[in-house]
Amino acid sequence: MAQEEINVALLGFGTVGTGVYKIMQRQRPEMMQKLNTYLNIRSIMVRNPEKHQHKVEDPGILTTSFESILEDPQIDIVVELIGGIEPGYTYIRSAMEAGKSVVTANKDLIAERGGELFQVAEENHVELRFEAAVAGGIPIISPLKNSLAANEIRTVMGIVNGTTNYILSKMTDEGMDYKEALAQATELGYAEADPTADVEGYDAGRKIAILATIAFHSRVTFRDVYTEGITKITAKDISYAKTLGRVIKLIAVANHTPEGIEAKVHPMLLPESHPLSSVSGSYNAVYVNGDAVEDVMFYGRGAGEMPTASAVMGDVFAVARRIKEHSQGSTRDNVYRTIPVKRIENTRSSYFIRMSVEDKPGVLATIASIFGNNSVSIEQVIQKNKIGNDAELVIITSNVKERHIKDALLILESSSVVRKVANMIRVY
Ligand SMILES: NC(=O)c1ccc[n+]([C@@H]2O[C@H](COP(=O)([O-])OP(=O)(O)OC[C@H]3O[C@@H](n4cnc5c(N)ncnc54)[C@H](OP(=O)(O)O)[C@@H]3O)[C@@H](O)[C@H]2O)c1
Repeated sequence: MAQEEINVALLGFGTVGTGVYKIMQRQRPEMMQKLNTYLNIRSIMVRNPEKHQHKVEDPGILTTSFESILEDPQIDIVVELIGGIEPGYTYIRSAMEAGKSVVTANKDLIAERGGELFQVAEENHVELRFEAAVAGGIPIISPLKNSLAANEIRTVMGIVNGTTNYILSKMTDEGMDYKEALAQATELGYAEADPTADVEGYDAGRKIAILATIAFHSRVTFRDVYTEGITKITAKDISYAKTLGRVIKLIAVANHTPEGIEAKVHPMLLPESHPLSSVSGSYNAVYVNGDAVEDVMFYGRGAGEMPTASAVMGDVFAVARRIKEHSQGSTRDNVYRTIPVKRIENTRSSYFIRMSVEDKPGVLATIASIFGNNSVSIEQVIQKNKIGNDAELVIITSNVKERHIKDALLILESSSVVRKVANMIRVY
């Protein structure tokens, strides 16, 4: 009996698209065994086919026409690897409306317009999968949706941006300053020419919005996420963190608390013993706490041609199996309740505050009383680095509401004893 074939179209043939093509070529015989059907790449859509001709066996599969893919009844799965909101949104929507399942690595699109797209998928009884959109090669979407489905998830917390983790690792391990580490990350291709989305925490913000939505079954969009990047972290902060037995990491965290969801991205001082502290360089990790499973952690390559293509292909396999079984439609994102997202002012943390103060008796007492009047108590004080008549002070507070710490810092900044509040970093 002739074997049924499943045909795939790629939209985009850049870093990830090329990885997907390579896996499809080298795994072809094994894929036949694993799926009991042939998986073919039938079309690849790019802007400039000439640029890509040398990368494919048959240049005839390159096209600039999305319509030709849409109108081809033999194409079962469309894999979107262009990035950005448009034209990806229109392509994905049209493909699903034409009865084709979609796999994408596009975090911007899923974080900002996922709700609409899942509805289109449901209405058209097709699948929409996006494992590669969060943490590249690390399987986290499928485990959250399936393996951990029986849990009430309390926390999802991770290092989900390789560029910033690389920069902070260089600053910690080699004493580089921020600019030097960013320049090296750019030279090695870890940072984009415009690194804003990475260093300001927007990329991680999109990923935690996606993870929070799946973990808590309530829609969290990028606009709900508080984001603060790493541009204000200095070699001094890193050195004080070391003195305190801690490391600074850019952490994306989502908590389900009785008062609502917390969804935020910011630098954090983690104890050296915390499992996320040892995640270095361009690696990513996601730590999940659920009521039944307790703690689990997922670790691996958060980006790159082959790791990301591995996640994309996992989704392609899953869709192909369903097509073979003639069963479709586990695509629901399982959003069945509405939990409010808390404003950052209403979240709680312990804080690391570095400030320069007048170096004279009684200053600490004044600072402690300003904190006390704003419901903030001090847990630890380090005084170092005299600069002329001033001294540098680092204070670790108890676990307090962010609103209270911000009120206290405003008063401190206008007081006569504090020269400058240099940084405020949350402490795990
Ligand atoms: N790179 C990673 O490590 C990584 C990791 C996780 C997720 N992702 C996600 O994966 C997706 C793809 O990333 P990438 O790094 O592979 O991007 P990329 O290297 O920039 O490739 C983008 C591809 O899309 C094509 N393209 C751009 N605009 C197009 C348009 N209007 N019509 C048709 N084709 C168009 C480009 O064609 P031309 O080559 O002809 O210009 C190129 O082949 C993004 O959503 C990204 O966020 C990437």
